[in-house]
Amino acid sequence: MSPKKTIRDLTDAELRGKRALVRVDFNVPIEGDRVTDDTRIRAAIPTIEALIARGACVVLMSHLGRPKGKPDLKYTLEPVALHLATLIKAKVDFVETTDSDEALRATHDLEPGTVLVLENTRFLGGEEKNEERLSRSLAELGDVYVNDAFGSAHRAHSSTEGVAHFLKPAVAGLLMELELKYLGETLQAPAKPFVAILGGSKISGKIDVIEALLPKVDRLLIGGAMACTFFKAMGLETGKSLVEADRVEMAKGLLARAGDKIVLPEDALVSASLDDGASAKAVARDAIPPDQAMFDIGPKAAQAFADEVARGRTILWNGPMGVFEKPPFDKGTRAVADALATATSHGATTIVGGGDSAAAVEQFGLAAKMSHVSTGGGASLEFLEGKELPGVVALDDRGHA
Ligand code: 3PG
Repeated sequence: MSPKKTIRDLTDAELRGKRALVRVDFNVPIEGDRVTDDTRIRAAIPTIEALIARGACVVLMSHLGRPKGKPDLKYTLEPVALHLATLIKAKVDFVETTDSDEALRATHDLEPGTVLVLENTRFLGGEEKNEERLSRSLAELGDVYVNDAFGSAHRAHSSTEGVAHFLKPAVAGLLMELELKYLGETLQAPAKPFVAILGGSKISGKIDVIEALLPKVDRLLIGGAMACTFFKAMGLETGKSLVEADRVEMAKGLLARAGDKIVLPEDALVSASLDDGASAKAVARDAIPPDQAMFDIGPKAAQAFADEVARGRTILWNGPMGVFEKPPFDKGTRAVADALATATSHGATTIVGGGDSAAAVEQFGLAAKMSHVSTGGGASLEFLEGKELPGVVALDDRGHA
């Protein structure tokens, strides 16, 4: 894919006194009317502030949840707008509509340096259908289109893709630029050794990532319940552990092809149940008792994985090593997070894919110690699989007027 223009490529004339229509991914967890994790909101602030500093006013649009194409107050973006107002100096307004004369008027009434948050784009029936009428109408809400919603770039929706065809220039925001730099450029030509760590419960969701990474990596460390499907493929007893029976043959094939690139945990932390952390014990991977399940990698595996990470110059991590939300099953994930933090401080490039592993490094207070923590969940996975993201493809190419 050709490199994309970013807000850095915009001229002052394109921004001063103009309305920047910015698609952000403010799909954040909310309890009641409180945002419980504002990572994605904070991640969009550099773009908002850069546009303001250059004399624009900023119109923000995002989806929240999956309200099925009609208004559902459970998914209003109002709490998000209120939260954003506590994070930036600029005045932030909210309008309870998106595709309407009222919304259009509100964008024209904006003073330079102020921010307007529009209502949830998924309240609109045409959004997920990428309806041309809606895309054209959204294009009226700005003078320039900025896509900073990396987390939604795998969706070809009106606000992420369609609108970019009708509002030019259409450029990437600073968060989008950063995500494409780390997950794209860095991983295309990684400094070697390149070590990838994959975890999580299922290989079914990660199989395309494994296939895409195998030719590039020096080592692929596999933890989480995913490892149990590989154990099964090796003919080991997996007890009550989560195993994807229909993926065992596939795991066998991967092991046969990968040579010594795939590294599996040599031990496991097992227990009769997730709620019985007190009786958790570490056993060799070939000694998982029939009545127990693996809920984390064991201490020897954690050390071996940390040693592999320490040898890497580029390290990519996606998916926890165990049930990190429930101590003592957080130890393996913590060990990997600590190893990445140390590797960063020794000059390695460390990239944490989004979703659960991003939540884990946040929980451990280590996010700032990584080179990059992606804000994408599904989007990072699709990008790592080598798929083109429609929200990125639709943006203006560098080198074009
Ligand atoms: C995400 O949280 O992964 C993105 O915001 C996309 O949300 P979606 O899966 O509902 O499209």
